[in-house]
Amino acid sequence: MRVLITGCYGQVGCSLTEQLAKVVNTEVLALDRDSLDITNQEAVNAAVVEFQPSIIINAAAHTAVDKAEEEVDLSYAINRDGPKYLAEAAQSVGAAILHISTDYVFEGNKVGDYTETDTTNPRGVYGESKLAGEIAVAQSCDKHIILRTAWVFGENGNNFVKTMLRLGQIRDALSIVGDQFGGPTYAGDIASTLIQIAKRITQGSEVEYGIYHYSGLPHVSWYDFADAIFDVAVQQKVLVNKPALTSITTDQYPTPAKRPSNSRLNNEKIMTNFFIEASDWKVALNNIQAYTD
Ligand SMILES: NC(=O)c1ccc[n+]([C@@H]2O[C@H](COP(=O)([O-])OP(=O)(O)OC[C@H]3O[C@@H](n4cnc5c(N)ncnc54)[C@H](OP(=O)(O)O)[C@@H]3O)[C@@H](O)[C@H]2O)c1
Repeated sequence: MRVLITGCYGQVGCSLTEQLAKVVNTEVLALDRDSLDITNQEAVNAAVVEFQPSIIINAAAHTAVDKAEEEVDLSYAINRDGPKYLAEAAQSVGAAILHISTDYVFEGNKVGDYTETDTTNPRGVYGESKLAGEIAVAQSCDKHIILRTAWVFGENGNNFVKTMLRLGQIRDALSIVGDQFGGPTYAGDIASTLIQIAKRITQGSEVEYGIYHYSGLPHVSWYDFADAIFDVAVQQKVLVNKPALTSITTDQYPTPAKRPSNSRLNNEKIMTNFFIEASDWKVALNNIQAYTD
């Protein structure tokens, strides 16, 4: 297969690039923002026409949830227009596009897990622009997979695990939001999921295109997640002491962007159609040293 990756220096982009390098019979063109700005339609078309991918994986996004509230145009340019250009280009060369989206397309009021058919209603610009991107991709390319994931962490880039480990070095006590629930998802597992789907597509297996949820289990609050991170860090001697943790409410930690209190994603569809199991974030934390800078 011939795979074009955008945003290759992001959390998921790095894992994808690393893992795809080991896949046999695969040509990879991994592009960072400097080599392909996805908001530049001409550049997108030129890259796709020249490389002739069978699969485009869009790992580029504007992921700064709070900043997005101010950077509205930029968020829509990167999260809606860029994916649309990539999907149109994919369609023009007969490629499939694998696009990553987010749990933040949901409002968060549901009791229970969100399935792919649940009504979306984002609470902020980031979620709105990502939802607009999903719609644009689905409308522009017949062969599309939209993978909604959540609470991404990996060895590369910035994420909650790294922030906790950094704060744990300098603070004796931390207050963490305990009333938002979701599934922390390891970037390496997102990458391997996308690669498995890409292989199925290029091997000619019958594939049901559309939206899929893929996130980590067990579902937890940010407080629970922090608690687990510090337990492993102390156990593995990455930290000497565990900071005292206090669970606080969202109201006690105001942020520019509102976030869903429940963004638990249901993973059944991807299990049924692709036999892909949910990511296990506890396993991904086993090598906690990997998340220290
Ligand atoms: N992070 C999460 O917790 C989370 C949760 C749910 C879903 N997701 C989704 O998962 C996907 C991957 O997220 P991630 O955490 O890997 O993101 P990330 O680490 O923020 O990486 C995004 C990458 O996109 C690049 N980028 C930004 N604008 C671009 C442009 N115009 N053209 C080309 N590249 C551009 C960024 O480059 P610069 O660094 O140079 O800006 C960065 O390397 C995204 O679709 C995101 O919406 C993430």
